Amino acid sequence: MITSKELREKWIKFYESKGHTNIGAVSLIGDGTTGVMFNVAGMQPLMPYLLGKKHPMGTRLCNVQGCVRTVDIDSVGDATHFTFFEMMGNWSLGDYFKKEKTKWSFELLTEVFGFDKDKICSTVFEGNESAPRDEETANYLKELGIKPENIFYLDKSNNWWELEGTVGTPCGPDNEWFYPRHDNPCCDTCDVNCDCGRYVEIGNDVYMQYKKLENGYEELENKNVDTGFGLDRLLLFLNGLDDGYKTDLFADTIKHLENVSGKKYGENAEDTKAMRIIADHTRTSVMLIGDIKGILPSNTGAGYILRRLMRRAIRYCKNLGIDATEMLAVAKIFIEKIYDEAYPLLVEKEDYILDEITKEIKKFETALLSGMKEFDKCVNGMQRKNAFMSEKDPNYVPETQISGKQAFRLYDTFGFPLELTIELANEKGLSVDEEGFNNAFKEHQELSKAQASSAKGGLTERTEVTTNYHTATHIMLAGLRKMFGTGTEQKGSNITEERLRFDFNLDHKMTEEEIKELQDFVNDVISKKIDVVRSEMPYNKAVEEGAYGVFNAESDDQVVSIYTIDGVDKQICGGPHAKNTGDLGQFIIKKEESSSSGIRRIKAILK
Ligand code: ALA
Repeated sequence: MITSKELREKWIKFYESKGHTNIGAVSLIGDGTTGVMFNVAGMQPLMPYLLGKKHPMGTRLCNVQGCVRTVDIDSVGDATHFTFFEMMGNWSLGDYFKKEKTKWSFELLTEVFGFDKDKICSTVFEGNESAPRDEETANYLKELGIKPENIFYLDKSNNWWELEGTVGTPCGPDNEWFYPRHDNPCCDTCDVNCDCGRYVEIGNDVYMQYKKLENGYEELENKNVDTGFGLDRLLLFLNGLDDGYKTDLFADTIKHLENVSGKKYGENAEDTKAMRIIADHTRTSVMLIGDIKGILPSNTGAGYILRRLMRRAIRYCKNLGIDATEMLAVAKIFIEKIYDEAYPLLVEKEDYILDEITKEIKKFETALLSGMKEFDKCVNGMQRKNAFMSEKDPNYVPETQISGKQAFRLYDTFGFPLELTIELANEKGLSVDEEGFNNAFKEHQELSKAQASSAKGGLTERTEVTTNYHTATHIMLAGLRKMFGTGTEQKGSNITEERLRFDFNLDHKMTEEEIKELQDFVNDVISKKIDVVRSEMPYNKAVEEGAYGVFNAESDDQVVSIYTIDGVDKQICGGPHAKNTGDLGQFIIKKEESSSSGIRRIKAILK
């Protein structure tokens, strides 16, 4: 049995023996430079260096970096998908390339980890108009002893690595490593392309020699290597397991869930899935709340993703027949027993993390209780109608769809995200009229818009002074996010003719240097006299473009108003704002204090 701790050490030691320096890990929360909310890959914080900047620790680097990926949240519940995972990485910044990299990856897998070379499969890029077919890598792999029939040439959708939705970022073809979970092919053609799940990707070596442009790619001066191997997955193979939840990272939490539910992991598919989801989502929630730039559940941005994870875990506690507060016990196991050494900050922040989980459970339970009643009413009503009509008319086709109006009511009155209603409906073999939901939505939106504009004419008029203060809060929040990460959000704002008062999440009291840095940041933006530009676009596009804000979008395509201070800030906001940052005068922070747990408050004036 190899433990997660030993595996982290082995990785680092191996690459240190090849001349790499361990650079350690950074926060899980994105740094705001690419608009990506979380660190989704170990390479993300290294972006400038992959593009050519000189790294202070040299040209050969390695680490183990926590990552959060929620794009395939729906796959979580199977044996090998996780929303948080640790990526073991190493990099060549214009140093070695394909020959050395294939050799070392192979050496690590076969000699250090004891993988069977005859079972290892590898995929390489088949080539397209941007980059050639990667025969070079394939040849090295063959020379190393990988069976030619275990080498596959795949297209860009499989063997090209880039951060989605970003330009100006490094990318390139990759060489992926696969291993079978067991020796029983599902059919005659069961290989890495088969979706039966037998072959699992354990890692990849990206040959990052391109920069992504608006249209196409540009060759970089540096030929880099960017390697990422998933610790959670590797651990499973190294211990001869076929399920990531059986490794030491999860075993104790699953045992706890078995004990309190009286159910056995692996016996019943639904219960097994529930246990996995509870364990995975609780772990990610602990990591995000307990991160150095910790975030809290909210209705926007990263906070909303956290809320979705937490609420999904709470729901699956119910499915498993246990109290949602068992998430606290699960969280404690992660904090105290599993990640205490690799993530000591979690131990320091334990009370805070448990407190925040408790709060979210309470909030959601209140909404869920009444919403579930309403949902059951919809379903019962439909079933009664079906029974009644079928009796009357033998040709009657029973209804199997929750109407858009009903789904909207669940959303609007009971806080049920549409996806929750869809999941609940699917569990009962029903569907949801999503288009109808969207229509009900738009109607409602138009009504609120009309109401909002009539209110604007009266009470909400702003003076020039308060407008300037409002713009100052935007610049200040941009500064805070730059300093403490994009997990920093507005938690409250109050503006008078005399001052602004602004609340935001932060896990420590700001130091004097930090206060000064923030004040200087705002004054610097003011002195640059930048125009504050208003635009309108659908919510999802705004978010894609990196806009954020205290805003509860009612749908992805709801048109929202955005205020951009070029190079500084892009917020979804109703306005109004100063026309130019130069209008603001001098910005002075008068006070920084605690507002409530995890929330700081700044009072500042404009002179
Ligand atoms: N950047 C590569 C990945 O995330 C290594 O898979």
